[in-house]
Amino acid sequence: MVVATSGHLNRDGIRIHPQSDFAGMRASGRLAAASLDMIAEFVVPGVTTLELNDRIHAFIEDAGAISATVGYRGYQHASCISINHVVCHGIPGAKTLKNGDILNIDVTCILDGWFGDTSRMYVAGKASRKAERLMDVTHEALMKGIAQVKPGNTFGDVGAAIQRYAEGHRMGVVRDFCGHGLGQVFHSAPNVLHYGRWGTGAVFEPGMFFTIEPMINLGRPATKVLADEWTAVTKDKSLSAQFEHSIGVTDEGCEIFTLSPADKFYPTW
Ligand code: MF3
Ligand code: CO
Ligand code: CO
Repeated sequence: MVVATSGHLNRDGIRIHPQSDFAGMRASGRLAAASLDMIAEFVVPGVTTLELNDRIHAFIEDAGAISATVGYRGYQHASCISINHVVCHGIPGAKTLKNGDILNIDVTCILDGWFGDTSRMYVAGKASRKAERLMDVTHEALMKGIAQVKPGNTFGDVGAAIQRYAEGHRMGVVRDFCGHGLGQVFHSAPNVLHYGRWGTGAVFEPGMFFTIEPMINLGRPATKVLADEWTAVTKDKSLSAQFEHSIGVTDEGCEIFTLSPADKFYPTW
């Protein structure tokens, strides 16, 4: 018999994985993060987002993995590339980067059946001070959220920590998209909100796997989706940034599966 999934669902419908499932998540997370390390040197003014996407796709396939996004609900690319006021799900294409553009590159791979999902910000050339500040706050907001993840704390603690930090810097937390459970599937329970109230929501247990992926705007939180049915932008056209990690809850706290293997993180250097 082929066992499609391991572990069990808890009372909130969240899968609790055995220790032995961490190895697969570690390997797929590492590969997704390595693809983001690899692409850094190619993010320069004049490059097209399709060229960046195609390099990522080749890197994933050369490693014996596949892209989780190609064919996902009709999506056709191995990455989402979201520039400036694009919040998420930007579609790679013939558009060229120009000096000062900031962009999120989001990659999800499947290695031996396990999903690794991560994204980071990059700069083409040199970013403005306000763009740098937005990216710094967004990355720190993600890490403040991750710092809440330990058995006994709740998903609401993650949202509250992110919201408090971002709004403390007078920035807007996007409400229209959230993190998600993952493992041997791309998106599963729970929805991981990036705003919320302390002490609310499901309680963390060792063996939960999920993403945290806050999108933070220099302006208001509101977004809209363009006619291509994917590209989400800020309604007020303000700049938006996002970072994403895939993590697993441990007895002590959590393990981040998608840390940069090269320790090459943000911004691109
Ligand atoms: N990687 C995205 C996430 O963080 C999902 C992208 S789905 C796509 O959940 F189809 F737009 F690629
Ligand atoms: Co995700
Ligand atoms: Co992602």
